Amino acid sequence: MYRTKTCGELRIADVAKVVTLCGWIQKIRKMGALTFIDLRDRYGITQIVLDESKNPELLKTALGREFVIQAKGNVIERSSKNQNIATGEIELEVTELNVLNAALTPPFTIEDDTDGGEDLRMKYRYLDLRRNPVKQNMMLRYGVNREVRNYLHDQGFLDIETPFLIKSTPEGARDFVVPSRMNQGEFYALPQSPQTFKQLLMVSGYDRYYQIVKCFRDEDLRADRQPEFTQIDCEMAFVEQEDILQMFEGLIKHLFKTVKNIDYTEVVPRMTWDDAMWNYGNDKPDIRFEMKLQNLKSLGKVFADVLNQTDFKVFNDAETVIAICVPNAAEYSRKQTDELIEWVKRPQIGMGGLAFLKCAADGTFKSSFDKFYDAEKLKSLATFCNAKPNDLILILAGTEEKTRKATSDLRMEMATRLGFRKPDEFKLLWVYDFPLFEFALEDQDGGGVGRWVARHHPFTSPKPEHIDIMVNNSPKVENLEKYLEHPYAQIKANAYDLILNGNELGGGSIRIFQKDLQQKMFEALGMSEEEANHKFGFLLGAFEYGAPPHGGLAFGFDRLCALLGGSEIIRDFIAFPKNNSGRDVMMDSPSTIAEKQLKELGLKG
Ligand code: AMO
Repeated sequence: MYRTKTCGELRIADVAKVVTLCGWIQKIRKMGALTFIDLRDRYGITQIVLDESKNPELLKTALGREFVIQAKGNVIERSSKNQNIATGEIELEVTELNVLNAALTPPFTIEDDTDGGEDLRMKYRYLDLRRNPVKQNMMLRYGVNREVRNYLHDQGFLDIETPFLIKSTPEGARDFVVPSRMNQGEFYALPQSPQTFKQLLMVSGYDRYYQIVKCFRDEDLRADRQPEFTQIDCEMAFVEQEDILQMFEGLIKHLFKTVKNIDYTEVVPRMTWDDAMWNYGNDKPDIRFEMKLQNLKSLGKVFADVLNQTDFKVFNDAETVIAICVPNAAEYSRKQTDELIEWVKRPQIGMGGLAFLKCAADGTFKSSFDKFYDAEKLKSLATFCNAKPNDLILILAGTEEKTRKATSDLRMEMATRLGFRKPDEFKLLWVYDFPLFEFALEDQDGGGVGRWVARHHPFTSPKPEHIDIMVNNSPKVENLEKYLEHPYAQIKANAYDLILNGNELGGGSIRIFQKDLQQKMFEALGMSEEEANHKFGFLLGAFEYGAPPHGGLAFGFDRLCALLGGSEIIRDFIAFPKNNSGRDVMMDSPSTIAEKQLKELGLKG
């Protein structure tokens, strides 16, 4: 037997026992005849002591950091106890020592605070995974996985695997493709999600399906995106939106309780997409804090009367003017406001400038546009914005979409600066009634005319009361500038997202289950009948054999784990992630393949 105990389990009650431990040497300290070693394994750290005066044989073999050793000895009480670790009251007085394997000096210290930079740690990910913080993340991930299964199993869901080598039917992102050797010139695609399969399973009658499943998307990466990631993918038959919201609100609350020991008892608030955009400029608002957008002017309508009464061109000429009231920031210095102006001018935000109005505690006002607004007008503006004494009102003006997004970004930036985004506070939110379509102006596929694309995916059902709008209108947009006036822009979907602290945790929809409507949808998306049949004939066919009403959703499993772990960086919660250029720097992939392989695949003559 290699070991009788782990490095995390010995306590004071074990004193006088003879045990054998195995692990990695984290630290060696020599003090006279005594050598103290911190021995680490997955379960913790135990201090072991080699006493040369009692057993000179022990130190004959060279030892070093990260050597794998086996140590047998007596558990003794420590004279100086370490309250910071669970085994801190005891140590192992070693009688027999075996080096199981030597190790090179690791390229960075394998401790909670390491000196290794991100790149180095990724290259040696197997060493990084030995570190406590990373290990904690892996354990959290496993805990979430287990509890997801427990909950869904208890609710009667079946875990059914779906294939990874499928047909390429790119919607949203690009597909990763796999050349077929046996069918040269043809390709499989890796699934962006099991969407169509889970719908087929509903047709097959498996009315509660789930899978914790890998998905693959060839898209640009960010902190919350990986090219291969994991979804908790779910689908139910004979349900309405309400059934789904309740079922999966229940799942997340179960996870809060079992994984975080948080009683999340309050009902998750719900907000329409229109309200989210109007009040937060964003379809995934962080509602841990207020600072709602104050719409002074939007799409040609002026809401704050005072805007009509001045000659301030910046506001007058803008399509949209939006403000936020930043609490207790009226005393910001010139330097601080200048810094904010620079911040909004950064290319990522791209605004021309930032106007501000300070509402002093004594009821006076000072703004960056005093030349155009007298004290009375400044006051009316502040009143319109519901500003309180000591608030700093920040105002952006420009075109609708850009200004709304910029104000939303500014709101998040101010919240970060002011410490409103607390990682240990959790606020869930359902956003629903998303638009069914988006208009892709830049899309060149249709000869540069732009076309409608599905906002969620082409299988999402329009709200029942909007089906007629889709069926009775041509998708053709005559005036590209005014696409928002096309009836399709008004169609809302039976789609919903669950938001946690400003992050999209998951999303789904009630699906189309009638062949005709699905065909109409493909047509609306600019697909010819032939193309629709080529890509989705199998689904349209299945809809002719008794498809039940159904709907579902998928959570981003990596995101869920990261957020429960108080982070937004999913890489840290994935054992072997890719870097920001989609590379695995440890294996060095992607990589070229041998000429022979290329030939076999018919990729080279
Ligand atoms: P959607 O595309 O919204 O829906 O994806 C569901 C959730 O998956 C997560 N996610 C990602 N996580 C990490 N890296 C990525 N590149 C990435 N892309 C998405 C997000 C997202 O909310 N089939 C539908 C679901 C349905 O309709 O049932 C789907 O895939 O957290």
